[in-house]
Amino acid sequence: EGMRAPPPSLLPLLLATAFLSPSPSIATDKLDQTASIAGNQTLESAGGVFRLGFFVPPGSSDGRAYLGIWYASIPEKTVVWVANRRNPVVRPPGVLTLSSDGRLVILDGRNATVWSSDNAAGSGGVATRATAQLLDNGDLVVSHGGESQSGSTTGRTSVAWESFDYPTDTLLPGMKLGVDGRSGISRNITSWRSAADPSPGAYTFKLVSGGLPEFFLFRGLSKTYASGPWNGAELTGVPNLKSRDFIFTVLSNPDETYYTYYVSDPSVLSRFVLNGTTGQVQRFSWHRGGGGGGGWSGFWHFPLDPCDSYARCGAFGYCDVGQSPLCSCLPGFRPRSPQRWSLGDGSGGCVRTTNLSCGAGDGFWTVSRMKLPEATSATVHAGVTMDQCRKMCLGNCSCRAYAAADVSGGINRGCVIWAVDLIDMRQYPEVVQDVYIRLAQSEVDALTAAG
Ligand SMILES: *[C@@H]1O[C@H](CO)[C@@H](O)[C@H](O)[C@H]1NC(C)=O
Ligand SMILES: *[C@@H]1O[C@H](CO)[C@@H](O)[C@H](O)[C@H]1NC(C)=O
Ligand SMILES: *[C@@H]1O[C@H](CO)[C@@H](O)[C@H](O)[C@H]1NC(C)=O
Ligand SMILES: *[C@@H]1O[C@H](CO)[C@@H](O)[C@H](O)[C@H]1NC(C)=O
Ligand SMILES: *[C@@H]1O[C@H](CO)[C@@H](O)[C@H](O)[C@H]1NC(C)=O
Ligand SMILES: *[C@@H]1O[C@H](CO)[C@@H](O)[C@H](O)[C@H]1NC(C)=O
Repeated sequence: EGMRAPPPSLLPLLLATAFLSPSPSIATDKLDQTASIAGNQTLESAGGVFRLGFFVPPGSSDGRAYLGIWYASIPEKTVVWVANRRNPVVRPPGVLTLSSDGRLVILDGRNATVWSSDNAAGSGGVATRATAQLLDNGDLVVSHGGESQSGSTTGRTSVAWESFDYPTDTLLPGMKLGVDGRSGISRNITSWRSAADPSPGAYTFKLVSGGLPEFFLFRGLSKTYASGPWNGAELTGVPNLKSRDFIFTVLSNPDETYYTYYVSDPSVLSRFVLNGTTGQVQRFSWHRGGGGGGGWSGFWHFPLDPCDSYARCGAFGYCDVGQSPLCSCLPGFRPRSPQRWSLGDGSGGCVRTTNLSCGAGDGFWTVSRMKLPEATSATVHAGVTMDQCRKMCLGNCSCRAYAAADVSGGINRGCVIWAVDLIDMRQYPEVVQDVYIRLAQSEVDALTAAG
């Protein structure tokens, strides 16, 4: 009989209905202990920004399903979080429930538990009035309302668990990358194994604690890229990262140290992702196109150039993309292996032209346009002036260099001392920060005379 077009007067209504239910989304952003979502049902955040549900990665051949969070409002399915990346549902349908003790639990088609969130109520406790809610910032939050049988009755709701504490490969605005000493939570991002497989891949981007805060990209156990130490004002390996629409900071106090960012226009969808295909951290923003289209644009990615390669020029060497060869030795140093150096392999690094005297016969040479040397093994002394710092360095035979630990607002605060080889430095066209390199005084005199 063929299809008959609906009368024109009904068209807007039909279109609106189709728009509101593109998939069987539960008309809520919350899950309580009596409800569940199964198969292709989803939760949607109140403002329609994010959706939570089961998905099968495109290109996967075996139909393994994962519980994930993706953007609700864009046509390109972009998963930003995966609950069970190591434990897929192989016997569909997957079912998400909130257990009596307030944990999120994923069951498979035979009711076997394939994944659950931490039991925040304590062992064996029962959390009444627990709810899981998907927020518009992409955070899935489990709250325990009112009373808990194993605990005291507070009458207040408290966050018992949240997905922001367990990043997958993506940092959304407001998420943290770093360590929290109080909760013992360490937050990193780890790439997917492939576009069809969200299980942990080769790359991890994370904070390495110690000295000044610094973030490293690992491939397996090897460091491949470092952000440069945080000096209170910038990550010294990315000195030109500032922009008005993308604001990031590193917060460091005795309780926690982390990187976080936000976008000045909250309606802009922005994500920071560790891409397992390219081995890069990338920042994307969504650009809305006409007719409901649009696409992700990459704003930047790191590593960016050969000088971003970790410790490219070895000990006491530095890299400069504007020079050929890329590697040079710091003033007062010469290549350890001149042959390999001339062949473009700077990894052997540099040695001193003149040995230190380890006493009054040493001085300092200032470099100012450099990414600070890796500082995870450096020692930070708070409340020390630059003059005291210089004396501390001169008084310790192992000291190789010193610098201000914090230069925010153009004021030097505290001091960082390197008693290790200086590695992973690179030179920029613009001033980053003064670093004082210890040399024999005769070298300082010679460099000064050479102008
Ligand atoms: C949802 O799942 C049902 C049953 O598995 C299936 O028939 C239906 O096509 C699915 N709907 C969508 C929108 O994927
Ligand atoms: C799974 O559990 C539900 C609820 O307890 C029950 O209705 C269903 O029959 C069970 N399914 C299987 C395959 O055991
Ligand atoms: C990243 O964090 C997870 C916990 O969220 C942890 O299991 C994993 O070992 C960490 N990976 C690395 C390389 O530190
Ligand atoms: C990884 O990068 C490639 C090339 O830029 C891009 O096509 C792909 O979408 C990226 N993957 C993710 C997860 O963003
Ligand atoms: C410089 O020090 C190295 C090792 O510390 C030593 O082998 C070398 O002989 C010293 N050079 C001079 C000229 O003293
Ligand atoms: C020299 O500095 C190193 C590293 O900060 C430290 O371990 C060592 O104790 C210091 N030595 C003296 C004599 O202060």
